[in-house]
Amino acid sequence: MDAEKNPLDRVPQHIAIIMDGNGRWAQSKGLPRLAGHRAGTENLKTILEACVEFGVKYLTIYAFSTENWERPESEVKGLMRIFRTMFDRELKNLHENGVQLRHLGKLDRIDAALRKQVIDAIELTKNNQRLILNVAFNYGGRAEIIHSIQQIIRNEVEPEEVDENLVDQHLYTAGSPDPDLVIRTSGELRTSNFLIWQAAYAEWYFTPTYWPDFGKEELKKALLDYRERERRFGRVSSEDA
Ligand code: FPP
Repeated sequence: MDAEKNPLDRVPQHIAIIMDGNGRWAQSKGLPRLAGHRAGTENLKTILEACVEFGVKYLTIYAFSTENWERPESEVKGLMRIFRTMFDRELKNLHENGVQLRHLGKLDRIDAALRKQVIDAIELTKNNQRLILNVAFNYGGRAEIIHSIQQIIRNEVEPEEVDENLVDQHLYTAGSPDPDLVIRTSGELRTSNFLIWQAAYAEWYFTPTYWPDFGKEELKKALLDYRERERRFGRVSSEDA
């Protein structure tokens, strides 16, 4: 590959992904929606391995939103089963590969057995440093900002002391840098309440590819696109300064 165009030249420190299109992927093949979620889970493993290989330090995935509870009961139950199986089968491997698991969202509505799996996985992997995997699960961006405000009020902070840093420190993502790149698969062009505070200056990459088909080569394409962009954070280009 042309050295000038190597997507791995400037790998984002933090990638966030809205893994969309599992249902349509399955429907396009005449399969039930849950088959799409299972294929999406297999793909997540591929992308995780690629991120470790490429030196990505933080990966945040949108696994289940606060709105996803409104889906048919059979789909919600099936998804929960998939999450439980993923923990049973993959946790050891993730741990051995230096992945630290963190949870973004609320654990209150989640079935007790799965909640315990999440808490135990966080404890087991808390010292791993190779890749931090933030799993947004029962997550909503607005709820997260409300959570931060509530914590700040509880701490009786003076209004003048409230700044971006303080809000950051009380978000579910406290301790993770903001995402550099947010990827959304399946052709939808929305943020869907995902990291609405943290992604304020992120680069966005949208692709029509359904999540189960978004493999390592597709990730490289996204990284190449990211590499070509100039991030100005509201300032002028360095060439114009
Ligand atoms: C979006 O596809 C996907 C989800 C709501 C669930 C995401 C879950 C996985 C990829 C499983 C792997 C995750 C973990 C943590 C094991 P969709 O159902 O909205 O697709 P559609 O828009 O085509 O209907």
